[in-house]
Amino acid sequence: MANFPTQRYRRLRYNPLVREMIAETTLSKKDFILPLFAVPGKNIKNEITSMPGNYHLSIDNLVTECKEIEELGIPAVILFGIPSHKDEVGSEAYDDNGIIQQAIRAIKKECKNLLVITDVCMCEYTSHGHCGVLNGEEILNDETNELLAKEALSHAKAGADMIAPSDMMDGRVAAIRKILDENGFYKIPIMSYAAKYASGYYGPFREAADSTPAFGDRRSHQMDIRNGNEAIREVESDIIEGADIVMVKPAGPYLDIVHRVKQQFNMPTAAYQVSGEFAMIKAAGKNGWIDEERVMMESLYAIKRAGADMILTYFAKEAAKVLDRK
Ligand code: PBG
Ligand code: ZN
Repeated sequence: MANFPTQRYRRLRYNPLVREMIAETTLSKKDFILPLFAVPGKNIKNEITSMPGNYHLSIDNLVTECKEIEELGIPAVILFGIPSHKDEVGSEAYDDNGIIQQAIRAIKKECKNLLVITDVCMCEYTSHGHCGVLNGEEILNDETNELLAKEALSHAKAGADMIAPSDMMDGRVAAIRKILDENGFYKIPIMSYAAKYASGYYGPFREAADSTPAFGDRRSHQMDIRNGNEAIREVESDIIEGADIVMVKPAGPYLDIVHRVKQQFNMPTAAYQVSGEFAMIKAAGKNGWIDEERVMMESLYAIKRAGADMILTYFAKEAAKVLDRK
């Protein structure tokens, strides 16, 4: 390689137009998926304390919000539900009249240009807050898969455009693919939370989704934060089982995994910038310790640069507005 003074990297940095020309990473609002939280009731819009700008929304307000998102040009939302009734087996998760099923129907009726993705897990619906059915303190894998499959089918019947299992049971993608296909929903893609870590960054979400486990933690199914090779095996299994899009979660602290997954499989790859990542940037921004907008954009560009094709992010609306200004 030629060296100084022949080679000067700064030659391409002096002029902003040249900088634009050589930029390697693009970020578009079409990359964003916004998580939303549906609650029972009417005319409810309660801000989630640890996630400023994010709300518990009753279905009427959820639809209004979705219209705005559609108007902004964000292509997709992912729905989480806080049920009116929780029990040991999370029955509202697969109730055709559950909170999410009602929300899907209401949104799909009003928003024709918005993809409705649904998170499939049990933890928002179980009285104990665990991601599956229990035997004592153990989460049963195969028994949980049956319920997850029922939940996914119920979402598809309500009109969901895409199913996103976040539970990390073994074999759940296959179980969901099978039940969807058997019921004629072979066109509905699965976006699997394929490499999902047992992360401390989910703290604010558990307030948002009221899904803190009553005892123990999620380490018996979510991945150990120290492991990278295992993520590759997890993702490979999900692809074999029929995942159409694979997700890495969290995003920012796991960019190495995002990169490896994209390189290895060339699959449409999603990354979830989770509640704690969002909350930290917000909190530091509010304190004036960082330039919030700048760090928001930097965090999103970093996730794209690592190899993600799409980003689930609570910043979707704010970042879309910034991109529209440019
Ligand atoms: C449900 C689920 C969680 C998140 C998405 N789906 C919480 C968890 O696994 O405890 C976290 C999202 C976030 O923190 O933004 N299993
Ligand atoms: Zn869960």
